[in-house]
Amino acid sequence: MTEQAKKTVFSGVQPSGAMHLGGYLGAFRNWVALQDDDAYDVIYCVVDLHAMTVPYDPAEFHRLRLETAKVLLAIGIDPDRSLLYMQSQVPQHAELAWILGTLTPTGVLNRMTQHKDKLEKGVPANLGLYSYPVLMAADILLYGADLVPVGEDQKQHLEMARDLAERFNNRFAEVFPVPEPLIPKTAARVMSLVDPTSKMSSSDANPKNRINLDDSPDVIRKKVKSAVTDSDPTVRYDTAEKPGISNLLEIMSSTTGRSIDDLAAEYATGGYGRFKEAVAEAIIAELAPIRASLQNLDDAEVARILQKGALDARTRAERHQQKVRDAVGLGRF
Ligand code: TYM
Repeated sequence: MTEQAKKTVFSGVQPSGAMHLGGYLGAFRNWVALQDDDAYDVIYCVVDLHAMTVPYDPAEFHRLRLETAKVLLAIGIDPDRSLLYMQSQVPQHAELAWILGTLTPTGVLNRMTQHKDKLEKGVPANLGLYSYPVLMAADILLYGADLVPVGEDQKQHLEMARDLAERFNNRFAEVFPVPEPLIPKTAARVMSLVDPTSKMSSSDANPKNRINLDDSPDVIRKKVKSAVTDSDPTVRYDTAEKPGISNLLEIMSSTTGRSIDDLAAEYATGGYGRFKEAVAEAIIAELAPIRASLQNLDDAEVARILQKGALDARTRAERHQQKVRDAVGLGRF
């Protein structure tokens, strides 16, 4: 397929801590599937500028940025087929965010739930956190992306990116495609193993809330065994009454490819112990190849891939950005 006929895919991940099963099932697995499909031209980015909107330690941050890229490579992102780079190395992201910011009513930002959730958790209010969705829209629109593979928690941000593309096109010129989210049917929102009413997350202080992609089989067994469930020992899918069991059913369905009904029928009786063992083994089998590839990747190689990615991304971003500058009246003299 010619480059022009391909659909452009863009997605990003924050280097904000351990990469976990939630992000993998909700998003990264789709990243790899799209890369492996010839109909798509794919761009993946470690969004370090976004991760600076909450308190962080600079020395640790540098390590996490590299580590995040390394895990993406271990998952199967292939730099020969995907453009992989670090957001801060491509200054056009910040430039486009400024331009889009001038089109963003503050009332729209006030309705975004993410910064409110963060403020409730004690994160200090700052302008970067408030305008986070504008930078995210810039990431997506900078390459004229058509499709954005994400977990369900990014839906509101994607709606805002779509809205900004339309606002821009109506006000200036038809520069941006209106991007579509790609959200999986199962495991779109993987929940915490400690509190199955909130999502699995790398910012949760309790490491038992999540399965990290590099957890050993023993650690995975322990975490699944201690996952919070309920006292009625019937395995059935019911997110209101049985959020813990429903979460484990989604995880097992997503890792084995079997339907939730099929799994619920097989494990309905026999107790939670037997079901949890099967869930743990399904996760271990899914993550084994990632753990193995992680051990074979060295930091210098990852750094080299990121340098090359940044160079290519800057060239592509600049080409598209010139159309934006021309449209808004910031053309060259
Ligand atoms: P981030 O870094 O929190 O997560 C990366 C991806 O993983 C998905 N995800 C989950 N999916 C299911 N269940 C979970 N518990 C879970 N936790 C995380 C997220 O939905 C996401 O797809 N704002 C974005 C980063 C971003 C971005 C972008 C994404 C910045 N610019 C442009 C797409 C396009 C974020 O914080 O993802």
